[in-house]
Amino acid sequence: MDINSFSKLTYGVYIISSEDGEKKNAFVATAVFQVTAIPEKIAVAASKDNYTTALIQKKKAFGISVLKQHYAPITIGNFGFRSGRDFNKFEKCKYLVGKITGIPIVLEDTLSWFECILEQEIDLGTHVLFIGKVADCATVSEEDIPLTYQYYHEIKRGITPENAPSHIEKK
Ligand SMILES: Cc1cc2nc3c(=O)[nH]c(=O)nc-3n(C[C@H](O)[C@H](O)[C@H](O)COP(=O)(O)O)c2cc1C
Repeated sequence: MDINSFSKLTYGVYIISSEDGEKKNAFVATAVFQVTAIPEKIAVAASKDNYTTALIQKKKAFGISVLKQHYAPITIGNFGFRSGRDFNKFEKCKYLVGKITGIPIVLEDTLSWFECILEQEIDLGTHVLFIGKVADCATVSEEDIPLTYQYYHEIKRGITPENAPSHIEKK
């Protein structure tokens, strides 16, 4: 297997959020894609190790924020490299509360967002594939373009932790 083949797959970079009534939390994800149009459904692959994964399973709802290309590195540092188990990721973060489900949706460096009701969950071994029906969505800004994983990785020299499906193990 030529492992480099995987680096040709294209992705965006998103923040996936939820809450359990007590705590709000979110993580950075690349494995996010629209799967149907009528009705609109979006799939997200979430590591079983992510704290947010358990919150989504409990709340049965999640938010998706589409990140902009000129993001502040602290946004990805905060949501993508630390676990919310022992730290409040929402303390200094701009967010809104979804009108349908009450979940928090991150607004930092966000171009548009989706509020999703969890419809299906598929066990993938290390990850869970969440399929959510879009209950609400909005565009926040037209002033930038969406961040792609290629730009994050090749131009910004950003790395991905092990929980990311796009992580490539150094041999
Ligand atoms: C660029 C990038 C992409 C990522 N993609 C995913 C992903 O698609 N799925 C996933 O489960 N984790 C992904 N991660 C890892 C999680 O964001 C990370 O493990 C996070 O700290 C989990 O937070 P939590 O434990 O507070 O939920 C990614 C991280 C980065 C920086």
